[in-house]
Amino acid sequence: MQTVIEKIIEGEETQNQHKIESAAKIIREGGLVAFPTETVYGLGADALNPAASARIYKAKGRPSDNPLIVHIADMDDLDKIVVCVPAGARKLAKRFWPGPLTMIFEKRGIVPGETTGGLDTVAVRMPDHPVAQALIRAAGGYIAAPSANSSGRPSPTLAEHVASDLDGRIPMILDGGAVGIGLESTIVDFSEEIPMVLRPGYITPDMIQNEIGELRMDPGLVEEDSTIRPKAPGMKYKHYAPKAELILVNGAQKKVQQTINNLTREAIESGKTAGVIGTDESYGGYRYGIVKSIGTRSDEDTIARHLYRILREFDQQNVDIIYSESFSTPRIGQAIMNRMLKAAGRQVIEV
Ligand code: TXA
Ligand code: MG
Repeated sequence: MQTVIEKIIEGEETQNQHKIESAAKIIREGGLVAFPTETVYGLGADALNPAASARIYKAKGRPSDNPLIVHIADMDDLDKIVVCVPAGARKLAKRFWPGPLTMIFEKRGIVPGETTGGLDTVAVRMPDHPVAQALIRAAGGYIAAPSANSSGRPSPTLAEHVASDLDGRIPMILDGGAVGIGLESTIVDFSEEIPMVLRPGYITPDMIQNEIGELRMDPGLVEEDSTIRPKAPGMKYKHYAPKAELILVNGAQKKVQQTINNLTREAIESGKTAGVIGTDESYGGYRYGIVKSIGTRSDEDTIARHLYRILREFDQQNVDIIYSESFSTPRIGQAIMNRMLKAAGRQVIEV
């Protein structure tokens, strides 16, 4: 199959509409289209068509028990696919939709088990991206979309990332340029008595608590205890992983830099290609290996935005081992560290 890449160009509205319409036609006919959202690129299919959802699993090589998120563009469409929307969820929708928040509800029969990995709940998100919204509306209102990477690779934040994983496996990629956020949405489960965060993201627990009060964190997210399974099936897989080994170094900045300089020198002496993830503030102080700045500590959003791109760049440069600073920055830091710890298989050196 040939993969067509259609570029969305600012100011060329008529042409853009044509491109989105032809993408929507593919989806209405049961096919797959990758499209930009504000978090990461998604791989979309008609969420109410079981055969279409099944194609997503095949294209990504995704385990069939890992449910998909259904994307909507209009609030009225939510009630048609879920049994009940609790008051807290309505509050969050009002405050954060469209946006990087996914909520889980008991599903109605109209949503096929192929879309929900066999579960009787469904995850729903209203993305805040004009291309995503136009595509969802033109395709009939419901697009099932996981991140548009092949299973196990870092999520795509550029159309080029989608192409490098899925070229030849899907008919179309809508190229809307670089995404804004760069980490997958926050997931809150409303099928439980007390709402529970299943995946941290740009919308933080504090922001949610301010709206609805009581909130739990999935015990499976607590890093130290690997015996408790996370409730979101996707969170249990080794995920977001670069091909290189990734090791985080945590501590006072000066010590971190010294340690990373020593470790990269040793790695290179033993014949390995080494990479370093620093920041705009620190990267001038690294002396060995391929050094990249992930962003600036004065704006943590930049760190989230560049993480997956940098991991993919190191893969392309055939790096064997990456040493990275750690980023427990106050707000989106929890989500950044959640992804980095997974990519690192929890390898952290404390200095
Ligand atoms: O930002 C995002 O959420 C992106 C963009 C494309 O919207 N999508 C995304 O999808 O990250 P995916 O498939 O890569 O991650 C969805 C996560 C998985 O961990 C999955 O197990 C979980 O959501 N999930 C989906 N439905 C669920 C359900 N009914 N119960 C529990 N977990 C669910
Ligand atoms: Mg994913």
